[in-house]
Amino acid sequence: MQNVNIAGREVFPIGLGTLKMGDKANTFDQEVKAIRTGLDHGAQVIDTAEMYGNGNAENLVGHAIEPYKREDLFLVSKVLPNNASKKQIPISLDNSLKRLKTDYLDLYLLHWTGGVPIEETIEAMEQAKLQGKIKSWGVSNFDVNDLTKLLKLPNGHYCAANQVRYNLGDRGIDYDLAPLMKENSLPLMAYAPVSRGDSDLTDQNVLLDVSQKYNADVYQILLAWSIRNGQTIAIPQSSNAEHVINNVKAANIKLTEEDLAKIDSVYPEPIVSEPLALW
Ligand SMILES: NC(=O)c1ccc[n+]([C@@H]2O[C@H](COP(=O)([O-])OP(=O)(O)OC[C@H]3O[C@@H](n4cnc5c(N)ncnc54)[C@H](OP(=O)(O)O)[C@@H]3O)[C@@H](O)[C@H]2O)c1
Repeated sequence: MQNVNIAGREVFPIGLGTLKMGDKANTFDQEVKAIRTGLDHGAQVIDTAEMYGNGNAENLVGHAIEPYKREDLFLVSKVLPNNASKKQIPISLDNSLKRLKTDYLDLYLLHWTGGVPIEETIEAMEQAKLQGKIKSWGVSNFDVNDLTKLLKLPNGHYCAANQVRYNLGDRGIDYDLAPLMKENSLPLMAYAPVSRGDSDLTDQNVLLDVSQKYNADVYQILLAWSIRNGQTIAIPQSSNAEHVINNVKAANIKLTEEDLAKIDSVYPEPIVSEPLALW
């Protein structure tokens, strides 16, 4: 298992997504248990956003992390593009911190590109860093053009991560974005890493074959594949504690060159540039 260096910290490569969590009172306890189970089994990164359930997911996370030492966690939240201005970022950030019941984020992401000039967003992010409210900032859903432009801007090189959709069925970034990020030592946060349980993937014979070899399930192989380069943190979402344990344990599976070649024979590396897969 290889930890990933993100914003100067070595963190466990499987984190916990929170999309669609915290919305319903009757699943709240089960979701809290899922998050705590992940943390108890080694996960550190929790990924959330002001957008998720309009703050519900952040509220859930705030409750779930109460028994844990803050410095052991790596909390990530995201600001909506419409709120990514110098005036609005401080307001959004304070609201996120309040919901998460913490006084800082480890990483604050711009959720996707929007109308606010990115230069202004960077300035506001750097200001939040100076105030100690965030340790680092990054972006999400940035393609090659967005990222290339960002990295050339003043302070653009402080960008600490790019979070994009990445799984075996959506591996277009392996052609150009992932190499660009590697060249710039920019870690990838892989969202939808199990492709939301898409049976096109989970029923695939090649994945079933490889999973048998490791006495694992297909979800674990999908996750092990997504973090294979040591520069990726996968953030699968699950409200089921048993699934979460399996997901976290996937960090122990090191796929061999032979496994990867087998998988590539069915899911080949892209040979042309593809638009970023979204949502
Ligand atoms: N930056 C962005 O724009 C963006 C966009 C989308 C998502 N995200 C982030 O990325 C996270 C993950 O993406 P996602 O939630 O869209 O998709 P995902 O993690 O690929 O899939 C989540 C689904 O997979 C199931 N699942 C997870 N592990 C499983 C396992 N071991 N066995 C069986 N089923 C399993 C979950 O059901 P169970 O609850 O039954 O396990 C859930 O329905 C999100 O939660 C969010 O934090 C970011």
